[in-house]
Amino acid sequence: MFGPPGVGKGTHSRRLAAEIGVPHVSTGELLRKSIQEGSELGRIAEEYVGRGELVSDDLMVQILETRLDQPDAKEGYLLDGFPRTIPQAQVLHAKLREADKRMDAVLSLDAPVEVLVGRLAGRATCRQCQATYNHALYPPKQTGVCDLCGGVLLQRVDDAEKTVRRRIEEYQAKTRPILDFFRQEHWPVQLVSSVGEIEEIYKRLKNAVDAGAN
Ligand code: AP5
Repeated sequence: MFGPPGVGKGTHSRRLAAEIGVPHVSTGELLRKSIQEGSELGRIAEEYVGRGELVSDDLMVQILETRLDQPDAKEGYLLDGFPRTIPQAQVLHAKLREADKRMDAVLSLDAPVEVLVGRLAGRATCRQCQATYNHALYPPKQTGVCDLCGGVLLQRVDDAEKTVRRRIEEYQAKTRPILDFFRQEHWPVQLVSSVGEIEEIYKRLKNAVDAGAN
């Protein structure tokens, strides 16, 4: 699942991965977990994440490889937030080739910048299960409490407007160019608009997955 901050990658990936029956592997969530645990990797990552900048490729690849070595990822996975730079895309490409595996679909979501900023400014994230809500658009049933697991809802440190804009700049400079790399390497890119209601966008994504499978 590919796209800028706030476009809905997490919202749709969690649901799609559960439906397909593969793990949802979000590099943002892996980083936030390392930060919460106070691990060495987490301490290094925290400064970058807090500033809205990308973590170094070496560190990110190390974290991702550890996750993909887990038994539940052997038969496939849904990546959310990786790759985010050309070197990360090259590493993934080489690994898939080495294992004689392929990417079934690259779902590239997009929406105008002001829509993204508005969604992130109102976002609340569950500390426990990472489910997301939006104060104005998709509020939880009980303020501050996750509908799914009862966990506490918090604002992410990198959701302050200035940091959100920095993250969007990072996406435009370093991540969006990967789409050309995907096309060059004949990865099955499907462009999906993320403007509209969540249900409607999810249907578009499902249609794109089905179209890619045929
Ligand atoms: P990460 O956690 O991946 O953040 P992100 O890409 O910036 O994406 P977000 O999680 O903010 O947004 P999303 O697209 O998942 O949207 P969501 O579904 O929540 O990464 C965080 C940081 O980690 C990075 O900045 C970087 O520092 C580091 N990092 C991560 N991966 C890295 C990598 N590979 N290399 C280097 N560094 C890395 O939706 C947003 C909100 O909108 C929610 O409130 C939701 O309810 C709402 N919403 C969703 N869809 C709609 C809709 N259609 N209408 C109205 N509201 C909606």
